Amino acid sequence: MSNEFSGCISRVVSIYQLKYGSPDLCAKSPGRINLIGEHTDYNLGFVLPAAIDKAIYIAIGKREDAEIHVTAADLEESFSVSISNMSKSTLDWPNYIMGIVDQLNKLGLTIGGFNAVIAGDVPLGAGLSSSAALECVTVYALNELFGLGLSKLDMVKLAQKAENQFVGLQCGIMDMFASMFGKADAVIQLDCRSLDYHYSPFNQEGIKIVLLDTCVKHSLASSEYNVRRTECESGVSEIQKSHPAVASLRDVNATMLEEVRNSVDQKVYNRCKYIVEEIQRLQDACIDLEQNNLIAFGKKMYLTHEGLSKLYEVSCKELDFLANFSKGNANVLGARMMGGGFGGCTINLVKEESVSDFISQAEIAFEKEFNTKLKSYIVSLGDGTSLVSID
Ligand code: GLA
Repeated sequence: MSNEFSGCISRVVSIYQLKYGSPDLCAKSPGRINLIGEHTDYNLGFVLPAAIDKAIYIAIGKREDAEIHVTAADLEESFSVSISNMSKSTLDWPNYIMGIVDQLNKLGLTIGGFNAVIAGDVPLGAGLSSSAALECVTVYALNELFGLGLSKLDMVKLAQKAENQFVGLQCGIMDMFASMFGKADAVIQLDCRSLDYHYSPFNQEGIKIVLLDTCVKHSLASSEYNVRRTECESGVSEIQKSHPAVASLRDVNATMLEEVRNSVDQKVYNRCKYIVEEIQRLQDACIDLEQNNLIAFGKKMYLTHEGLSKLYEVSCKELDFLANFSKGNANVLGARMMGGGFGGCTINLVKEESVSDFISQAEIAFEKEFNTKLKSYIVSLGDGTSLVSID
């Protein structure tokens, strides 16, 4: 049991006890990384995420009335609302919880009021899906608390809808899937069209996954995310005119895309080109992984960054700087921006013996360039959403 683990769980339990007595149960849901396959989930392609050893924890118990009372221990903020009177809050985090309750209501699954305390060690706003982790831990805990009988896959779909409808981000399914289904030491190869998946062992021998956190979060992140989704859809509509069987960019190949090159906006063409290439790149990268060829895998990560930066235009100068910095370092096998973009982290595959040198050199270079501090995290791959024993 790591210190962070015991630290977070004892914190949520002790705060809960102070406020309400003993919690009925505790649960945790991790953040995620994604090795390759970015922005491909809502285009019904493939992704290769994994849950990490950092999570959001919840201590929860039933109330007699129909109110929700939640404390976010790390932020020292509390929020309460009546289930029948929920509306979007100006605070960010309660929306993820209310979004889940709203979806349960829409499914006709009746829950009563509850008290909860949440805390975690997933860095916030770093592109590690702390929000999906919060949604997943909430739905998982409520499913247990009220005996709702939902499967893990039901909960993943419900959490995605909560984010789409209540929070308003038209995200794909990757983050919730990874958080819920993660497995220690494995990456999840997920087909976002069929939702078939399998675990591939990630042989990390001699390699560490290092995240470099720009600590930048541009306000563009959610609005531009939704714009990208619309741009991809408009490319699909144009292609459908001559290929009616095409349902998403998953069904599109380079030849089909060239056919519409002059009838779509240059930006739409570029977005679609990146996605079509990335869906193929991920499949090739999975073969590299099977063959334990992390050198070839790493080269594809750099190509993904290039595409995300130049064609998909979801990078920013800080992320480009870090990806470029890694490219010049022979001890880094691959690096790229990770997640939705416009800030957050780069993911780097670094030779174990060089990790501390790499991080300190990156810190110095980043501070020199941007006059701001870089954060870094070395992550391991952990298990997905589960109950946590408090005995
Ligand atoms: C965010 C979204 C995911 C996915 C990634 C980009 O994390 O929540 O659904 O689209 O961006 O790959």
